Amino acid sequence: MSATLIDSIYAPIQEDLRLVEENLRAISKVDTFPFLSGLLDHVLDFGGKHIRPAITLLASRFHPCDRDRAVIMATAVEALHIATLVHDDTVDQAEVRRGRATVSNRWGREVAVLLGDYLFARSASLVCETSNIRAMSRFAETVMALSAGELREYVACYDWRQTREQYWLRIHDKTASLFAAATETGAILGDAPEQHIDALRSYGHNLGMAFQVMDDILDFEGTETVAGKPVGNDLTHGVMTLPAILLAERFPADETIKALFSDRQDPDKLREAMDKIRSSSIMREANEIAEGFCDKARRALDGFPDQAARRSLIDLTGYVTQRER
Ligand code: FPP
Ligand code: MG
Repeated sequence: MSATLIDSIYAPIQEDLRLVEENLRAISKVDTFPFLSGLLDHVLDFGGKHIRPAITLLASRFHPCDRDRAVIMATAVEALHIATLVHDDTVDQAEVRRGRATVSNRWGREVAVLLGDYLFARSASLVCETSNIRAMSRFAETVMALSAGELREYVACYDWRQTREQYWLRIHDKTASLFAAATETGAILGDAPEQHIDALRSYGHNLGMAFQVMDDILDFEGTETVAGKPVGNDLTHGVMTLPAILLAERFPADETIKALFSDRQDPDKLREAMDKIRSSSIMREANEIAEGFCDKARRALDGFPDQAARRSLIDLTGYVTQRER
């Protein structure tokens, strides 16, 4: 995906996103503690796509809004996202993220847990700066969902009998909940009417579901060089994502994944499972499911005026399903 497409999608909020980046850089300036500053620099400066703060800013644009508060909320959303990645990489024992060593790999799990906690608390303090109780409450509920989602994934590891319904719940909690909170809080701070707040939350939820389905597809289809992290990672670690669930649904008698999960060290079994999934129409079905979530996200915006923010939110749905990392 070219940088120009995402740049044009972000054009209406370019200046506000620049302020979000400035705020993120400011978080890492802890003058009295250079070690902490270095850690924060390492994670805050690793150049993500900034989709979550972008949708907060776009969602705030439909009604007259205090832009400073929307920028603060968007910064909090990105800081929380980065905190979850630091914790997730610790839980997953991941070695690289976005082409860089993870904090747990480079500084150890203890440092990574504490750094994630620090960033999580910093993002909460930013939400408090908005002085909006409803935004604070949505933020707290989202952290609960994110943690529950990660726990759901952990307890379901190496269980090859999982349903789509369990998967929806898990990816809602671990990913879509933050997308939904990102757009909902943008709308709340923009003083949108309830109907618009609901619609923007629904947009965020569906975009987030599509985003995670695509992430899970890329774990089968991508390459490490483009993704910035190893592929085949989910099955290697016993995580049943949509493509694997579709294989089990379609061929109930097939025991490839069961065999892989009971003999975790055998690279041939991983290759066999990956090949089976890649060579069938399963990847196409998974892509269609991601498209289905994007359709729902676009439909949630039906009642909104045709303005730049709406066009950007619509174009983002296309970006999410075409991205390569
Ligand atoms: C990435 O999943 C992980 C998440 C989207 C959410 C993780 C949430 C937590 C660890 C809870 C954090 C709680 C606090 C308080 C900060 P993935 O492993 O599927 O994606 P990846 O392949 O990019 O690692
Ligand atoms: Mg992970």
